[in-house]
Amino acid sequence: MRRGPNTTALAFTITVVLAVLARGLTGGSGLVQLSIASSAEIGPLPPVPIPVQNPMTPEKVSLGKMLFFDSRLSADGSRSCVHCHQPDQGWAFKDRQSPAYPTQVERRASMTLINVAYNTTLIWDGRASTLEKQALGPIQNPLHMNQNLDLLIERLRAIPDYVERFRQVFGTGPTPDAIGKAIAAFERTIVTADSPFDRYATGNLTALSASAQRGLELFKGKARCTLCHNGPALTDNGFHNLGVPEAEFLKDPGVLASLRFDAKRMGVPEYRALTADPGRYLVTKQDRDFGSFKTPTLRNVTSRSPYMHNGAFDTVAEVIAFYNKGGGNDSRKDSNLQRLDLTHEEERDLVAFLDSLTGELPKIEAPELPE
Ligand code: HEC
Ligand code: HEC
Repeated sequence: MRRGPNTTALAFTITVVLAVLARGLTGGSGLVQLSIASSAEIGPLPPVPIPVQNPMTPEKVSLGKMLFFDSRLSADGSRSCVHCHQPDQGWAFKDRQSPAYPTQVERRASMTLINVAYNTTLIWDGRASTLEKQALGPIQNPLHMNQNLDLLIERLRAIPDYVERFRQVFGTGPTPDAIGKAIAAFERTIVTADSPFDRYATGNLTALSASAQRGLELFKGKARCTLCHNGPALTDNGFHNLGVPEAEFLKDPGVLASLRFDAKRMGVPEYRALTADPGRYLVTKQDRDFGSFKTPTLRNVTSRSPYMHNGAFDTVAEVIAFYNKGGGNDSRKDSNLQRLDLTHEEERDLVAFLDSLTGELPKIEAPELPE
């Protein structure tokens, strides 16, 4: 699946060498037990991985973009993908609770689509693993776009410009498979480049402020962040229970209904007894996974908010304060979370480092849609 493993290996090696050099040049901060292995784990993004079954072409990306922005994909014509994944809100949505289909309510926060191409697990509980298949989920989900797939295909077939574009790209009319592929190809273009951290990691040692450099050392050392936020996208693609405080909105009977409805679809027998979001448990049905959620990417993290699966925190400073006290209260809390005893200055340094993860995004504007 992954393209260019050699490039990745090379980037890896370069990062190690640079990290060693950087430590030498700054005289070693003496702050942390920085291991060279862990410094190699976070570094510049490799080229976007493209599945062989779905090569990218400009025409396919352009069709996918139209579908992503087109609210005619929803049953009542009011919801498109972009409605809940807004470019100027970090390709997510600024509320604790994502928007939903009219008359329905969501039980989680939206997720950023920035660098989603690199994710090997999708959704807060990891129920999906390919962008191609995932795209058909929200289209049919009664909480999101509430569309019937057969009906959607007929509706698209009634729009000649779409029919022509599908034919050019896929050699067929609109099909669910082609819709998924086109949307996925578009999503793979939402990729960041050239963040101050990337410039630093590739040799520009002045790209990070002194504070951000101290933050990077803390991130890899004393603050223990790379235990879970590692790899070029700063996620292990794994699931952890942090004891994030339960959302107030879960007390709303409507939200609880959405939560239980979703758990029933996921095959949880005791769905009606639920009062909390089971997270990863919905997929594995393993008790130890109850309340575990996916480690999100930290790229461009300070240009979106709120944070966590339920939007529990509004700022990264609040998130760091939460980690500093060892996370929340939950009997299944990940044992890697422990009190950090960070000083206020160290907390600020971590924020400065997180800020340095913000890279440039391609400018993507709403396309003109086929009539
Ligand atoms: C009504 C709001 C809404 C709409 C419309 C919507 N989404 Fe989402 N999206 C969400 C929410 C909420 C989540 C998190 C869902 C969860 O954990 O259950 C999400 C998660 C995702 C993810 C997972 C990202 C990751 O890193 O794991 C992808 C990909 C995604 N959406 C793509 C799409 C696409 C493509 C469309 C259109 C076909 C779409 N979404 C339409 C609200 C929406
Ligand atoms: C044990 C694994 C683990 C460790 C250690 C960890 N994180 Fe996380 N992080 C997660 C998970 C899992 C989530 C999502 C939790 C949820 O939604 O319930 C998360 C969420 C976040 C978010 C919110 C991102 C978003 O888009 O919502 C930020 C910011 C963050 N972590 C930063 C850090 C920093 C900084 C550190 C070190 C002080 C750290 N994390 C340590 C696993 C971890």
